[in-house]
Amino acid sequence: MQSRHSLPITAMKASFEKTTEQAVEQTAAKHATSQGGLLPCLHEIQAELGYIPNDYLKNIASAFSLSTAEVHGVVSFYHDFRTSPSAQQSIQICCAEACQASGSRELEAGVAGVLGVEFDETHPTDNYRLERVYCLGNCACGPSVRINDDVYGRVDLASLPQLVSEAVQS
Ligand code: FES
Repeated sequence: MQSRHSLPITAMKASFEKTTEQAVEQTAAKHATSQGGLLPCLHEIQAELGYIPNDYLKNIASAFSLSTAEVHGVVSFYHDFRTSPSAQQSIQICCAEACQASGSRELEAGVAGVLGVEFDETHPTDNYRLERVYCLGNCACGPSVRINDDVYGRVDLASLPQLVSEAVQS
């Protein structure tokens, strides 16, 4: 039974989304009149929310008199910007030269297919983010992968799903 003071979940979600949208709009309005204000605006939104919500790129675009595609282009160009909340866990695939020489290109190309998540995105159910990194200090044993704090060597597409299912906490 619902307590007298609690909001129904749908009302809380709507309220949170409204607050997020308002925060985005206020920050966009603050920077929209400045020359070159888009990047500072995006940095401030990410600092406040932890990411730049895809759903509100249109609000930012409107404030700057740009198209949503133009704002999306800027967000996706800079590696530091995230469009989804950061996960507590991460899987990092080393894509630097030594690992490439021992097979990480195949891992890089096929990892989305075996894990069901794209690079720079968070897995929809397992709460980890898939990232590229450039050297994990394990070059002699590549291809190298770090899952949270542990580095694994000689990882391939066949062994990765098992490693992930053992190391990641859903
Ligand atoms: S190049 Fe991959 S661990 Fe160094």
